[in-house]
Formats: sequence, structure tokens, C-alpha cells
Amino acid sequence: MRVGILTGGGDCPGINAAIRAVAKNLIINYKAEIIGIEDGFAGLIEERVRPLSYSQCSGILSTGGTILGTSNSASPLNYKGQDLSVQVFAYYQKLGLDALVVIGGDGTMSIANELSKIGMNIVGVPKTIDNDLAGTDQTFGFDTAVSIVTDALDRLRTTGQSHKRVMILETMGRYAGWIALQSGMAGGADVILVPEIPYDIDEVAKICNLRASEKQFSIIVVAEGAMQKSGEAVVRETIMSSPDTVRLGGVGNMLKLQLEQKIDSEIRSTALGHIQRGGSPTAFDRIFASNVGCAAASLVAEKRFGRVVVMRNNQTTDIPLDQAANKARSIPLDNMTLRNALSLGISFGDPDIVLPSQSF
Ligand code: F6P
Repeated sequence: MRVGILTGGGDCPGINAAIRAVAKNLIINYKAEIIGIEDGFAGLIEERVRPLSYSQCSGILSTGGTILGTSNSASPLNYKGQDLSVQVFAYYQKLGLDALVVIGGDGTMSIANELSKIGMNIVGVPKTIDNDLAGTDQTFGFDTAVSIVTDALDRLRTTGQSHKRVMILETMGRYAGWIALQSGMAGGADVILVPEIPYDIDEVAKICNLRASEKQFSIIVVAEGAMQKSGEAVVRETIMSSPDTVRLGGVGNMLKLQLEQKIDSEIRSTALGHIQRGGSPTAFDRIFASNVGCAAASLVAEKRFGRVVVMRNNQTTDIPLDQAANKARSIPLDNMTLRNALSLGISFGDPDIVLPSQSF
């Protein structure tokens, strides 16, 4: 059996743990030959691959990034204006691959879904720090990102407290607020602003003023996709070569400028940016990535293609690729952590989002 592995889209902690699990499982149990595709779909388009031996997949469990490299701007469906899916399929056949394991987020799964429809034997493994992939309870990379943001919040708290300031921390997460919600809860934020709940700037100012009179400092966590009521998410840049052209960012600074008009406290804003995606995965993400990697290896061995491994109730299972493709998973308003945060007095910047009537 000859199996290719490809990592697409933005990197995240835990990808190497997943590569290791897929490769080692297939080598040990099925004597498979593993082919690493370099830099995501770019490697299939530009014919850049290399064999991955057992020893090359050893010692990478705890490392960040991806040993194969990745790209979030090379889609065979639209590469410099051309559809190269037939060319990519021909290259896959020339390599003699029996299957291709694709590790990626929703954009990568969408490409994988189209390639699967034209006959490539694909198994998907979801990853993203954003935790926004449809069909799975969680993705690996997310736990590490939340830990990094929580650590930053602990540090911002001591300096904010000393200077009696309002400290704003902007997180990643695209159009979902999972990183902001979980780290805000873990870091004891006073205000958490997420895309799912557009905020009212007067409400945020009210909380800061209240805190200034009681505790003298405030911690605000704002997701990069957060927006004002009747406003829009703040765009950092547009990258035309990328399948997803929009890059969000800058809402933390915008919020600072807005609040400066309304409160007397000094305000500082920090954006953690790509720090949230770098470095070693947490123990949770290493185990998570190993579990989904092994489940992907089993799907390959059972020849169950066109499917994505997902995690439901702490168990791996799988769904058709098209159920994970091009779909995002937002925070539902009845989310347990969101409702408990409300019950602990954390504001989401909207006076109409009220305390839960039931407890969890
Ligand atoms: O999807 C992961 C993510 O880190 C998002 O949270 C963020 O909006 C985006 O990728 C940043 O993309 P890039 O690495 O292209 O700047």
C-alpha cells in the first residue's frame, strides 16, 4: 500500500503528531509506504514529494508546525486562474498512490472533496486553532491556542492591575469566537467579544467604567471577527492568491480608539497574532492528533474513502467529506461555557444577552 500525506491551509500545533500517527500506524500495521507531499496542494501541482520513512516520523510528536510544509494559497481548483484538478489526479496516479490523507481546515476539505469526486481516494483529518470546522466537536490545535492566549491574559492581568488600565487582547479565530470564549473564561476576562454576538460599544464602556470604580482595571478579550452591532468585521488584508482572500485583524486597536472616546481609564491593546499558532502542542492536542491520525489510518486500511475523521463525545468517528467542506461552526447561544460565563457576570457587550434561566 502506498499512501500520500498532505497538510494544507494554515499550520497549527499538533499537525506533526497527526502525520506521525497516520504514518506509523500504516507502516507498523500494514507495511505501507508513505509519501510526503510538500507544501500542501502546491506539492501535487508542482510535483514535489518525498518518501517519509518510519524514522523521519519519529521525534516529531512534540514539535510545532508541519514537517511537510503547507500553503493556503495553492488550490488545484483555481491555480493562477486555471483548474488543474485533472493534472493533479494524473500525478496522483503516476505516484501510484492508493490513498491520500489530507490534513487541513474547511478550505482544504473543500478542495479534497472536489478531488475525491473525480476519483482520488481521500481521507480527511481536520485541524485548525479556530475550532470552527463543521461536524466535529473540536479540532486539534485549538487547545494549544487557548493555552497560549490564557497565559497572555494572566500576564496582561498583572500589568493591567498595576497601572489600573483597560487591557484589550485580540485573538485569532476568523468568523468564530471559540478561542476568545474559552481563553476569556480561563483567563477571567471581564468582557468577551465574539463574532456570534455583535457588541454595543456603550455597553462595553459601561462595564469598563463600573470596573474602574470597583477594581480599577478591566480585561477585554476580543475575537478578530468580532463586530459592532450593524457593523462589519475588521479586515487586516486581502490576499488575492488565496482561496480565502480575507484576513481579519485590527479590531483590538479599533476598540481601543472607540473606548477612548467614552472612558477615562488608560487603554492598551495587544494582538497575539501568529504566536497562537506556533510552538509545541499541549498534551491534549498531542493525544487528540494521535487519535484522529490513527482513525484516519484505519479508514485508509478499510478503503473507506471520501470521509473525514471527526471527534464526537470524545470518540473518533467519520462523516462524508462534503459535510465538512466549506462549512463553519459558530458558537451556539446555548453553549455551556457562554451561558456559564454570563452567569459569572462576564459581559459579551450586548445588554440583550441575559443571564441563563437554567443552570448547567
Ligand atoms: O485559520 C487559522 C488562522 O490562524 C485564523 O485564525 C487567522 O484568521 C488566519 O489563519 C490567518 O491566516 P494567515 O496565516 O494567512 O495570516
